[in-house]
Amino acid sequence: MDEKYNRRGKVHFVCTLKVMDLEYIVPYIGKGSTFDEKEMEVIREILMSDKTMSCAEYRRIFEEAFAKFVGVEYAFALTNCTVALEFASYLAGIQTGDEVISTCFSYQATILPLLQRGVKIKFCDIEPNGLGVDLNEFRKLISPKTKAVFITHYGGMIVKDIEEIVRISHDNNAIVIEDCAHAIGSSYAGKKAGSFGDFGCFSFHSLKNISTLGQGGMITLHNKKWADVIRKIRGTEPDAVFYDANVKFGMNKAPYDDIERHAKNAYIQNCSLIKYSGTNATLSEPSCAVGSIQLEKIDSFNSRRREIAIRLTNGLSKIPEIRIQQTTDQDYHIYHLYTFFLRDEAQIDRDEFVRRLKMKGIEIILRYFPLHLLPEWRFQGGEFGLCPVAERVWFKEIVNLPIYPKLTNNQVDYMIETIKDVIYEMVLEVK
Ligand SMILES: Cc1ncc(COP(=O)(O)O)c(C=O)c1O
Repeated sequence: MDEKYNRRGKVHFVCTLKVMDLEYIVPYIGKGSTFDEKEMEVIREILMSDKTMSCAEYRRIFEEAFAKFVGVEYAFALTNCTVALEFASYLAGIQTGDEVISTCFSYQATILPLLQRGVKIKFCDIEPNGLGVDLNEFRKLISPKTKAVFITHYGGMIVKDIEEIVRISHDNNAIVIEDCAHAIGSSYAGKKAGSFGDFGCFSFHSLKNISTLGQGGMITLHNKKWADVIRKIRGTEPDAVFYDANVKFGMNKAPYDDIERHAKNAYIQNCSLIKYSGTNATLSEPSCAVGSIQLEKIDSFNSRRREIAIRLTNGLSKIPEIRIQQTTDQDYHIYHLYTFFLRDEAQIDRDEFVRRLKMKGIEIILRYFPLHLLPEWRFQGGEFGLCPVAERVWFKEIVNLPIYPKLTNNQVDYMIETIKDVIYEMVLEVK
C-alpha cells in the first residue's frame, strides 16, 4: 500500500489489491431483497393449491393493473422485454429491406430481433444529457422510408422531446417502439413511459425497478387490432385468415365442442392467409402474482431511488470536473441508473477514474457500449464516427453509480466522499 494525503490532510492508503479480490463497500447489485411476506404468501398459496400455474387469473389481474398504471388500453405479460421488443418489431411489420431508426445508446436487446432480418438500421446520435435520441439528428434521418423508430428511456429518464419525436414519426407513417426496460413509472409532464408511442416494452429482470422472479416483461399498446393479434400469437395460435369450408377427412366427423375445440375448428375451417405465426411467450401465474405485488410497491421503490439521486446530486454538483444529469420539473426520472459525466476539459481519464473507485470499494458497471460499434453491427456497416456524441460520452465521460432502494445513506455518502477524493487526486496528477 502507498501512503498519500488527501485534501483534508488525512493519510489514506491507495490499495494495490486486484479489483477482483475486493469485497465491495457499495456493490453494483443491491444486497437485500425487495420481496417480503406478501410475495411469499401468494407463491405459497399458488403452489399449495390445485390452481393452474399458466394463463389464468393472476395474469389478467397483473395486465389490467399494469395497463392502468401506464395509462394505455392494453398490456400483455410476456417472458421478458426482449420478447416484447420482438413482438413489437413483428407487429410493426418490419421486413427484409426495410429501414428503421434506432438510438445508438441502449442495451443490445433493443434491436437484437432485427439482426438477421436484412433491415437497414440508421443509428441516431444522442443528446448528451438524458442520452435519448437527439431531435436534430433524428430529423436528418427520418423519411417516408422509415418503418419504425426504436427509442430507449435510458436509465429511467424519458427521452427528451419525446412528443415531437412521436409526432414526426407518425407524420412519416413510422411506428414508435419505446424500450421502457429502465422506465417503469418514469413520466414526462405526467405521461408515463410506454404510453407515448405505439408500443412500450418493459423488463422485470432481477436488476430492474421491479422484478417477477428473475425474468419477465410486458408490452403496452393502445391499438385493439394489434392487441387481438398479441392475444393469439403469444399463446401458440397463428393470426390467420380463416373461412368456413366444411372440410372432409374421409368418413371421419368433427368431435363435439366440449371434447376438443381446436380439432373441431380443423373440420370446419380453411385458411387463406397466415398473417403472423404464433409462439409461446407468456408469463407464468406465480410470476404475474409477484408482479402485481411488486407493482403496488413501485412508487415507494422509485421514491427511494429519487431520494438517493438527490443526495448524490447534492454531493456531486459542486465538483467542477463533473457534469450532472439535469432534469426539468416535468421529468419524473426514476433512476434505474444514476449517471454523471466527467467533463472532457478536466482531462480525467475515465477508465482510470472508474478503476480507482472500484479499488476503493465502489463497484461500477458502465452502460452501454454504443450499439453501432458492437461487432455484430459493425459487421453490418456500423463504424466509429457515426455517432460522435455517443462515442465521446461512452469513451470519455459517462459514469454510472450503483443505485437501488436498499442502498444506505452511509453508502451514498461514502460514494460522494470517495469521488471527491479520487477527482482531487487525479486533478493533481494532471497538473
Ligand atoms: C434497455 C434494455 N432493453 C432491453 C432489455 C432486455 O430485457 P430482458 O432481460 O427483460 O429481456 C434490457 C435488459 O437489461 C435493457 O436494459
